[in-house]
Amino acid sequence: MTDSLRTERLLLRKWKGDDRVPFAELNSDPEVMRYFPRTLTATESDLFVDQIEQGFEENGFGLWAVEVDGRFAGYTGLNKTAFETPMGSHAEIGWRLAKWAWGHGYATEAANCVLRTAYALHGLSEVYSFTTESNTRSEAVMRRIGMFRRTDLDFDHPNTPGWWGIRHIVYRASLPKE
Ligand SMILES: CC(C)(COP(=O)(O)OP(=O)(O)OC[C@H]1O[C@@H](n2cnc3c(N)ncnc32)[C@H](O)[C@@H]1OP(=O)(O)O)[C@@H](O)C(=O)NCCC(=O)NCCS
Repeated sequence: MTDSLRTERLLLRKWKGDDRVPFAELNSDPEVMRYFPRTLTATESDLFVDQIEQGFEENGFGLWAVEVDGRFAGYTGLNKTAFETPMGSHAEIGWRLAKWAWGHGYATEAANCVLRTAYALHGLSEVYSFTTESNTRSEAVMRRIGMFRRTDLDFDHPNTPGWWGIRHIVYRASLPKE
């Protein structure tokens, strides 16, 4: 299993201890967390990093820490969803970047790289992505990396009863045919 990936402008790598403070900072930013039920405390953010590291161990892939010019910017990667979805056990591709890193194409650049590795390194034949209905920035990344909308798979997030953003839309990418 590889420990890092490089794109034109980014380093996607395993997590370091130093990432925890800036990660907690972005997880406490209401704008970054606008399409989630709430912001995270530093303890919750650390726990999330623990889960990400465990995910790499268990699945051989995970949510990479993204670096821009040596600065931690957030994550982009593959994840096994921990709750039931209409997509079953398939891997999900996801992204969360600090506000300063928005508007530069970094999420799309990182996600294109991750999607290629999903097929080439991890032998996956399909990858899904989902987000709350009104998260248009996230949906735009899905479109830019060539994913296709699957309205038949839209679902209510099971862990967030009563939340305004409970309805989730789904996109799918599949291994390009030769
Ligand atoms: C979702 C998220 C990662 C998208 O970030 P983003 O900056 O909109 O997406 P990208 O990094 O792909 O950047 C695309 C933008 O950069 C612009 N851009 C500037 N320079 C660029 C370049 N060299 N190459 C490509 N795009 C560039 C594009 O035009 C586009 O701008 P637009 O949004 O005004 O059309 C970010 O909004 C985020 O972290 N949100 C909070 C967490 C979240 O909701 N995650 C998803 C949960 S499912």
